[in-house]
Amino acid sequence: MRRIVVTIDGPAGAGKSTVAKQLARRLGYRLLDTGAIYRAVALVAHRRGIAWTDAEACAEVARALDITFDFVGDKNHVFVSGEDVSGAIRTPENSQGASQVSAHPPVRAALLDLQRRLGEGGGVVVEGRDTGTVVFPQAQAKFFLTATEEERARRRVAELGSGGDYEKTLREIRERDQRDASRDVAPMKPAEDAVLVDSSTQTIEQVVENLARVVEERAGVTAGR
Ligand code: DC
Repeated sequence: MRRIVVTIDGPAGAGKSTVAKQLARRLGYRLLDTGAIYRAVALVAHRRGIAWTDAEACAEVARALDITFDFVGDKNHVFVSGEDVSGAIRTPENSQGASQVSAHPPVRAALLDLQRRLGEGGGVVVEGRDTGTVVFPQAQAKFFLTATEEERARRRVAELGSGGDYEKTLREIRERDQRDASRDVAPMKPAEDAVLVDSSTQTIEQVVENLARVVEERAGVTAGR
């Protein structure tokens, strides 16, 4: 069986992370969460007092970023210079920061090689916004996963637990999608050859099953084996 590159792009809260993780496990593939890389840049910039609007200074942070991933049990932990920042990168404030720094062309350019290196050799599920269009345009299986705004906001609130406010989350999701989809460089959009998947009407298990079938076909394995 060939070990291919699988990309999953789509807006915030569409279920990408969960689907990517389960799909990677089922296929025995590695997982590459590219959003975590932009989140790490935003976090480091903020800690150094660099404004998220400062493209050059954020690009400098991106170029020097020392990021590693490690699965601890079921969770994909993210380390920056050896520090576990898995929780710190996922606050609502840092999410907006990640979206802002990701709109700067020099930041994206600085992270391109890093992402390609991390995905080298195939046998990897990559998730993000532009992984099928820009980072791995030759990927053999591409998906664009989405869901209605309301469903995505509901999921995010559930993730955030008791601190989650639905209306505020919905506003933040709209703001972030608008920025991610309208930026000049590598905007979030489906690759021409991506399979479009709406997760509003399916369970995560059904989505994973459908994606796995496509990947197995593309990798040259008979579906269902
Ligand atoms: O997937 P996520 O929510 O963790 O991503 C955080 C931000 O990073 C998102 O708002 C846009 C940006 N991003 C990007 O521009 N390109 C990617 N491939 C992944 C994420």
